[in-house]
Amino acid sequence: MYKIAVLPCDGVGPEVVAEGLKVMAAAAEAYDVDYELVEYDIGGERYLRTGEVMPDSVMEELGQYDAIYLGAVGHPDVPPGILEQGILLKLRFGFDQYVNLRPIKLYPGVATPLKDKGPEDIDFVVVRENTEGFYAGVGGQLKRGTPEEVAIQTGIYTRRGTERIIRYAFELARKRNKAKKVTCVDKANVLTFGHDLWRRTFAEVGHEYPDIQQENAFVDACCMWFVKNPEWFDVVVTTNMFGDIITDLGAMIQGGMGVAASGNINPEGVSMFEPIHGSAPKYKGKNVICPVAAICAAAMMMEHLGEVAAAAAMEKAVAKALASGKLGDLSTRSGVKTTEAGDLIASLVE
Ligand code: IPM
Ligand code: MN
Repeated sequence: MYKIAVLPCDGVGPEVVAEGLKVMAAAAEAYDVDYELVEYDIGGERYLRTGEVMPDSVMEELGQYDAIYLGAVGHPDVPPGILEQGILLKLRFGFDQYVNLRPIKLYPGVATPLKDKGPEDIDFVVVRENTEGFYAGVGGQLKRGTPEEVAIQTGIYTRRGTERIIRYAFELARKRNKAKKVTCVDKANVLTFGHDLWRRTFAEVGHEYPDIQQENAFVDACCMWFVKNPEWFDVVVTTNMFGDIITDLGAMIQGGMGVAASGNINPEGVSMFEPIHGSAPKYKGKNVICPVAAICAAAMMMEHLGEVAAAAAMEKAVAKALASGKLGDLSTRSGVKTTEAGDLIASLVE
């Protein structure tokens, strides 16, 4: 019996989470997976009501779960940063979810803006470091608001943090057993301290994986190649901030934010799964947001828990629904309701 904490949070989060849970329930029934869901009232509304973002007591409780399923964070009445740092980053850092796994996969039937590229060309995974870099929150301000203001924001790269994410990427390339290639994306030509550490670590760890092809790419060139030659990529490993940026680009080439899912993984601890789209407050309660990303995130969670067959059935159902054309263009103007999309996908679980 798995214990899963559900944090629907803000905006359209609750709507897409409901559909993810619907499809998960269908797969659990078909494959005899037992789980218990406990929902937590976390997010902008609670903050505005009580001033609490993520109480320590909730963090402590969340530590007892097998996984966390999260909707979206961000509220129009809350200044930027409070919820992102207080919820999302607190979970990622607090539970040391050092892997941010972001598959970039174009399903048949989904339109990509890339000319002459199809599902056979776009199928890779970005392994984003999730606990260090510029997200570490190290820095400060001096003489704030004056003409002499100084601001420092430091990127943190540790040998241990770099090594564990790179090793995870190599293991994943072996497990995927596709092109067996890892591309390390950095800016070592300018960030000559931190990203030099990345390059050296990549080369050293790479010695242990002679069966895996290894290449380095600068992040700017990588953006170019995601568009020009996405078929070159199998597993991409990169720093926190670069991973954030290139996965938005990745989401676009796989058909948009409506399909982009992610897992924040601590292989030895509590992991958290979420769609990478935000809370889209404009569409809250309108039943127009595509739930595919949240459903794929739920499938990633099942796989992480070891329920490989149930996860595969969920993904297959998503692929079938997308190939059928019945989900439209996946945008908010598709005419397909969030709940209808979830019903269709749940009905396709075999
Ligand atoms: C993401 C988001 C977050 C990030 C924000 C909301 C803090 O953009 O998950 O990609 O930068 O990691
Ligand atoms: Mn992002």
